[in-house]
Amino acid sequence: MHVVVTGGAGFIGTHLCAALVSRDCQVTAVDDLRAVDTLSLPAEATLVRADVTDSSLTLPPCDAVVHLAADPAECRSNFCPAYNTYQGAYATANVLRAAVLAGAKRFVFGSSVAVYGHGDPPHQSLSDALSFNTEAAPCYPTDVYGANKLASEHIAQAVCAVQDLSLAIVRMHNVYGPGQSFSDPYRNVVALWMRAALERKEATLYAGHWRQFTYVGALAPALAALVTGTFEGVLDLGDNTVTSIERLASRICALTEGRLTVATLPPRPREVPFSVCNHDLMYRTLEIAGSCSWQAVPLETGLEETWAAAFATYGKTGKRLPRLRSLPVEIGRDKLPTNWRRLK
Ligand SMILES: NC(=O)c1ccc[n+]([C@@H]2O[C@H](COP(=O)([O-])OP(=O)(O)OC[C@H]3O[C@@H](n4cnc5c(N)ncnc54)[C@H](O)[C@@H]3O)[C@@H](O)[C@H]2O)c1
Repeated sequence: MHVVVTGGAGFIGTHLCAALVSRDCQVTAVDDLRAVDTLSLPAEATLVRADVTDSSLTLPPCDAVVHLAADPAECRSNFCPAYNTYQGAYATANVLRAAVLAGAKRFVFGSSVAVYGHGDPPHQSLSDALSFNTEAAPCYPTDVYGANKLASEHIAQAVCAVQDLSLAIVRMHNVYGPGQSFSDPYRNVVALWMRAALERKEATLYAGHWRQFTYVGALAPALAALVTGTFEGVLDLGDNTVTSIERLASRICALTEGRLTVATLPPRPREVPFSVCNHDLMYRTLEIAGSCSWQAVPLETGLEETWAAAFATYGKTGKRLPRLRSLPVEIGRDKLPTNWRRLK
């Protein structure tokens, strides 16, 4: 089976390409490398450098396309709505067009739990969120990124229906692990805090939210099984354990042996406090597929492996950390969270 992965040289993409190779797939990663610190695709995968927003984009003949390329900056997206929409809904439509022309029979869209937003009514407690936030729940995204993921889902449903592509939409959340970008100042709290620990700089914690941090080593094999399988529909993909942001901070502080100090700030406006899902459908789907089951990795283990990889690259060797990539802010610079205003 030949699988094309857009954003294939990125964090999740690289791990997915490796998992697909180990399933004996032929793999082509399509990526323009705009967000790649270090290229670490498996040798068996082919890299095609291309921008997925290019209207002349063509994909090689293939059986399936996984669309992961995006501007995944959730909170920042409200300050660059045009860029995020071009990279979001528009890019998805463009990749769908290219996938149909390449003869693909299956399309897998990398969506996000950001589509759920606060829910309706807003979640007041963890148990509310756990019972409500399932694939059947209505979606009320609170940021441009989540709105683009939801729009992309609808666009993919419309196009795949008339073009006879089987469609799986996977809503992932808070994926972390080795290979995560250390140059993005706007997201990926695990990488941000590990970078701060390596630089012995103070990190910022916005208080009062809970997430299901999902180790990429658990996610990638499950995602590869879904890509090569036959599941059609929408699936939340992530770990069931719920962790407060304060607990995450204390785990990383302990792991990095006093290198990390954290300044706690009040919750950001419009931050979703309980972005958590019930993953029963995902567990059942993987069991039915019979080819994979969810191998949960405890947060402590995942963080240890992530820190070990980061320390081996930047701590022991003294290799310079990549420069922080500040991206254009289109509107409302005065409304940015305080620590982002300092970024040029
Ligand atoms: N990491 C998470 O926690 C998470 C959670 C939910 C959903 N997702 C989604 O999964 C996907 C991958 O996320 P990630 O964390 O691996 O991010 P990432 O930034 O590491 O990967 C995205 C990749 O897409 C590439 N890219 C971006 N725009 C491109 C363009 N116009 N043309 C070609 N390549 C382009 C980048 O160079 C990068 O390699 C994204 O769609 C993201 O929204 C991620």
